[in-house]
Amino acid sequence: MTDEVITIFDTTLRDGEQSPGCSMNTAEKLEVANALVELQVDVIEAGFPIASPGDFEAVQKIARRFGDRATICGLARCRVEDIDRAWEALQDAERARIHVFLATSAIHREFKLKMGKPEIVRRAVEMTKRAVDKFTGNRTADVEFSPEDAARTELDFLCEVVEKAIDAGATTINIPDTVGYAVPAQFGAVIRYLKENVPNIDRAVISSHCHNDLGLAVANSLAAVEAGARQVECTINGLGERAGNAALEEIVMALRTRADYFKCRTNINTKKLYPTSRLVSSITGMKVQRNKAIVGQNAFAHEAGIHQHGILQERTTYEIMRPEDVGFHGTNLVLGKHSGRHAFRARIEALGYRLDDDAFQKVFEDFIALADKKKEVYDADIAALIDNRIETVPETWQLVGFHTTGGTGTVPTATLEMRDRNGEIRRDAAIGDGPIDAVFKAMERITGVAARLEDYEVRSVSRGKDAQGEVLVEISVNGHTYYGKGVSTDIIEASARAYLRALNKALASVPTERPPGKSAV
Ligand code: KIV
Ligand code: ZN
Repeated sequence: MTDEVITIFDTTLRDGEQSPGCSMNTAEKLEVANALVELQVDVIEAGFPIASPGDFEAVQKIARRFGDRATICGLARCRVEDIDRAWEALQDAERARIHVFLATSAIHREFKLKMGKPEIVRRAVEMTKRAVDKFTGNRTADVEFSPEDAARTELDFLCEVVEKAIDAGATTINIPDTVGYAVPAQFGAVIRYLKENVPNIDRAVISSHCHNDLGLAVANSLAAVEAGARQVECTINGLGERAGNAALEEIVMALRTRADYFKCRTNINTKKLYPTSRLVSSITGMKVQRNKAIVGQNAFAHEAGIHQHGILQERTTYEIMRPEDVGFHGTNLVLGKHSGRHAFRARIEALGYRLDDDAFQKVFEDFIALADKKKEVYDADIAALIDNRIETVPETWQLVGFHTTGGTGTVPTATLEMRDRNGEIRRDAAIGDGPIDAVFKAMERITGVAARLEDYEVRSVSRGKDAQGEVLVEISVNGHTYYGKGVSTDIIEASARAYLRALNKALASVPTERPPGKSAV
């Protein structure tokens, strides 16, 4: 028997982008969409077109650019204007999907929608039909219906809504655990119940959409697959509302590593998992925890002597996946300052990156500068240099240079020189609790942005005392959160770059307008 294929529906650009501080601009979304296409995801949920002009623009551009290589999906509430706007954004995609949703649980019916069951069913049917009717001519309708908060919906009512939505033309029925309340055996039982009690269920693909509030999103999604779901909705690095969604990389590698058990496969090019994870982390500024399964820095690091010994004898003693299968190349020593352009380009490609000539030249210059300071340049260093150069945030301000003083018995100070968009140079100085704090204060004086530092983290990118430091900062400006990342062998410079990136994001941000009444979906 051939293994069944599980459709991977990525919602990094919609649900993932709803995580606080993870908003992306259109250029960034296009970059992530490109990576998702190369990863070979089947469906890309590109956004919620009615939410804002920016969301609409991004969905339309993604539909036009990538709509022949993946199905491009747009979200819509069960409202006429949402569905019409979604279609307007999607219509140019060769493969388009409209995703309509309406809450069905008693709590949502009573307190959010103030609607009874008959009204919910009527709306779901009417709006699913409206979405189906958009697919005219020889286009086959591709409409997904989600009963929001399905995991807390009475099973008989869930069956009724699902049956009517399928009759109205829905081709995918997505079962969301919107608030991350389900546990695996129970969630699997919900899917099984639908399969056994909805008479027309064979006319639609069943999908899962699990949130991670109890840390069970991946387990619940896999339970859904076991029970018969054939689409899984997930995000890169598990990004998403609150504690996030099911992590794509974990679902895919669980299905692959335990194909013996699930008897399923996906179309994902797993070698792109690690580079895609890094790209998303770099663009959103949302760091990946070190011990995160599949894409964390420690995911393949064996510390205990007994494990190292076992691995040296036979890697399968302690390794169930090969790091290279997820595109992770560890911290192998690769290049030094005498390595040429060809070797450098080949290494970049092996790491899964594709850079245009201009970006390549900049990264190559950074590499030469780094190799001058650091004897051994590792893959992780190269990945950090590339992430640092993938700059899709408009550089309202650039750092020209800085000088700091610090030490016991002195007042830490920083003097900064920065250039604005018109090329004008501004200099200023500040004192602080330490040299880094002084740099941040001087930067705020120059840019005129009053920010609050919410979080600061520094880590070493690779090994050795000359390793590059990577700094991640989280700031808040006017109640909005922004992340920034910077790398350098000098951690004060890395800190300055990270802070500047976050400030530039704040300066470039247009607050995302969500439509009134939109729930935390
Ligand atoms: O979590 C949720 O219920 C959603 C729906 C829109 C599918 O994101
Ligand atoms: Zn969701």
